[in-house]
Amino acid sequence: EEARFLAAAAHSPALAAAWVVQERQQAGPGFRNAADTDTTTPSGAAWADAVRGALPARRLGARTTLDSTITTTAQVSTILDRAAREGGAWSAVPAGQRADVLRAVARSLEAVRRRLVTVACDDAGKLPEQADAEVSEAVDFATYYASLATEVVPGARQLPPRVTVVASPWNFPIAIPLGGVAAALAVGSAVVLKPAPSARRVAAVLAESLWDAGVPRGLLQLAVLDDGPLGRDLITDTRVEQVLLTGSAETAELFRTWRPGLPLLAETSGKNAIIVTPAADLDLAAADLVSSAFGHSGQKCSAASLGILVGSVARSARFLDQLVDAAASLRVGTARDPGAQVGPLTEEPGEKLLRGLTQLEPGQRWLLEPHLLGERLWRPGIRAGVRPGSEFHRAEYFGPVLGLMAAPDLATAIAWANDTAFGLTSGIHSLDPTEVQEWLDGVRAGNLYVNRPITGAIVRRQPFGGWKRSVVGPSAKAGGPNHLAALGTWVPTPVAV
Ligand code: ALA
Repeated sequence: EEARFLAAAAHSPALAAAWVVQERQQAGPGFRNAADTDTTTPSGAAWADAVRGALPARRLGARTTLDSTITTTAQVSTILDRAAREGGAWSAVPAGQRADVLRAVARSLEAVRRRLVTVACDDAGKLPEQADAEVSEAVDFATYYASLATEVVPGARQLPPRVTVVASPWNFPIAIPLGGVAAALAVGSAVVLKPAPSARRVAAVLAESLWDAGVPRGLLQLAVLDDGPLGRDLITDTRVEQVLLTGSAETAELFRTWRPGLPLLAETSGKNAIIVTPAADLDLAAADLVSSAFGHSGQKCSAASLGILVGSVARSARFLDQLVDAAASLRVGTARDPGAQVGPLTEEPGEKLLRGLTQLEPGQRWLLEPHLLGERLWRPGIRAGVRPGSEFHRAEYFGPVLGLMAAPDLATAIAWANDTAFGLTSGIHSLDPTEVQEWLDGVRAGNLYVNRPITGAIVRRQPFGGWKRSVVGPSAKAGGPNHLAALGTWVPTPVAV
């Protein structure tokens, strides 16, 4: 795919420019991610099969004692007392030593790769290949932030938050919490990790691997609690000097209501579109729409929820058949099923997602109707006829359902892609450089992808973060060069007199 695009780009300055934007902030080759693994880790199908062989794995998961479950306000306070003490000491540790600890964390994660993958499959409904890629991303975060930790900004010094709360989601239960924890540790902050309840066992394995790597137990603490009164106790305590949240826009707003002025960096929701024009490689576009919409059953903030088909594409029976065939042929199954491509929903679908999976709005029709095949296992669905301004056009569903819109021209398609409160990821499929340029000039989203899927950002190569309601706080993308600088406060370096 990349080779094909680069060949086209060689004849086209605009496409070449688009490539640069797509890969913007690329400071070198992307990190390892899932593409290749080190010599100590099995990889590919053999590795996934080994994990499957270990399932069901409740016993493995049960090795983790969740003594971190918080049930009282007094426990929240005790955690914060300890964190504030440890945070003060950690910030005085030279950055080079903090970076060394993070490199040890990366090694420690590799050492528990199999256990992490197994527990993520078992508890959070991931498929082995996806969970394995997450471990690689987590390793990348630790390694990358270790390298950034020692970069000095001339003339200024960073006062880290003494205590950072990392509030992490269930859909990426390994990479996202680890990324937040590593960033906070890198700048010298203590961390309280508050995972989503359905990802708590994975978080416990992560915490153990950080402690094994030499991170003091008081410096990183695990707090398993819900977003009820105890969550409120945690977030509103002024010893918490920063919150890194990855979750829904509603949760970000809840935190802000609890504590106006909360120092919050949040990456939240998305309503992401891929535009397909008649100048696209339609085979590639169909494949990329399907993988972007239905990877991890659409439970990604980055997932494609809309395909906006321009002009003749919306009327192309060949393209629509191809899209439906590709989606219908995805193998739906659990982590125990060899070759499963679409796994179970992590949680029972809420009211909105159920509506998205079962009800059409006026003018819409199913090209592929979603079906419940087993416990929380849904065959993905594709609806056509999504109209501008409809609920499906604007709302995030976070599940395996894709809506198609028919736009008369590219300008309209871009306007529709922008016409949501969110601005996280966005894509175009077109081999026409003028069209790609028009899209680049008009689209309003944080991560832009040309002629490829719109999920799966790689640390350092594709710093990840959004615009509009998809982001709260300074726009400093995770996995990018500005991320650590956004944490804490910068003050001028004192000048000796
Ligand atoms: N970072 C994740 C992705 O890019 C959400 O898909």
